[in-house]
Amino acid sequence: MVDKQDLLIGIDLGTSRSAVVTNRGGRAVFESLVGYPKDLIGVRLLGTTHLVGDAVLEKPYLQWLYPLKDGVIQGRSVQERDAAEKLLAHAITLAQPRAGDRVCAVIGVPANASRLNQGQVLTMAKPLLDIAMVVSEPFMVAYGLDQLSDALVVDIGAGTTDICALKGKLPQSEDQASLIKAGNFIDSLLCHKISARYPDLQLSTAIARKIKEQYAFVGTVNERIEIELRERGKPVTVDVTDELRSACEAIVPEIVEQLEKLIQGFDPATQADAVANIILAGGGSRIRGLGQMIADALRSYGDVKVSGVKDVFYTGAEGALKLASDLPPEYWDQIGVTAL
Ligand SMILES: Nc1ncnc2c1ncn2[C@@H]1O[C@H](COP(=O)(O)OP(=O)(O)OP(=O)(O)O)[C@@H](O)[C@H]1O
Ligand SMILES: [Mg+2]
Repeated sequence: MVDKQDLLIGIDLGTSRSAVVTNRGGRAVFESLVGYPKDLIGVRLLGTTHLVGDAVLEKPYLQWLYPLKDGVIQGRSVQERDAAEKLLAHAITLAQPRAGDRVCAVIGVPANASRLNQGQVLTMAKPLLDIAMVVSEPFMVAYGLDQLSDALVVDIGAGTTDICALKGKLPQSEDQASLIKAGNFIDSLLCHKISARYPDLQLSTAIARKIKEQYAFVGTVNERIEIELRERGKPVTVDVTDELRSACEAIVPEIVEQLEKLIQGFDPATQADAVANIILAGGGSRIRGLGQMIADALRSYGDVKVSGVKDVFYTGAEGALKLASDLPPEYWDQIGVTAL
């Protein structure tokens, strides 16, 4: 039973985007970005000392940073730590807590985030929340989809690709893998490959990301991908089909390799069910042809089925909220994951 005063929050703290959902119907997704004025004029223009979320991108006079890198809090500098705290505080503000609420949040971190990182998230959460629990991101996705056994979840984010084998119990470290080849890796590689072919283009990883988000594919497509870019200031049309294909395909071999390892970790009696239930999640799961390519690579494991989640931005946060709702907050520290 949820106490009337309990505000339950599911939070997916992502490298590029974070999502928040609450038991009162609150729903928000925002860029995991914190901006600070560069100088006094900036403070005057902004009217405050910092800004969080998508609005930062519209204000060129701010210096900004993504405080989560590879899905993990960057706590090396004071500003990185400060930015990570502001990000979490923003997520909680979006959940609209009311005076008198007991504010309880389940927060997703990458699979295999170290104990240290889990601890960092909890330390940050302490002054902001009454009760908090940290769980692995792909487990949250699986929980939200009700796929808690005989399933494999591949969550392709910006900083990490998190893979998790669901065996009907809380995933242990041997059931999970976190690869640093994910969306950001594709962006850099694509930028590099296009620049190698067209050296005079004015290109950035942000432009590469835009191209990828519009056209990403692996395998074959029946179209040439031609886009307008700028070469020494002048507009030019360039064909980036091959570069885009090979940049996107670069994440596939390690995903397949990890899936093969995790498949072998299932009881032989459940392996056939597990390979028939591979679920792709995260923004990177939108790459066209990816499910088919993974299924083809695993063909020798039997009847492989790869599906994708419907809502790539909210699945993790929804799973976290479901977990928060199913389990009274008093018990959060008893299920084997870290809690405040
Ligand atoms: N249509 C698309 N095709 C390919 N990639 C996409 C598409 N849409 C979004 N992405 C990529 O998905 C990534 C963001 O996904 P997601 O929001 O799941 O990541 P995140 O949760 O912020 O990161 P992480 O899980 O690593 O912390 C970005 O790299 C983005 O460019
Ligand atoms: Mg994510």
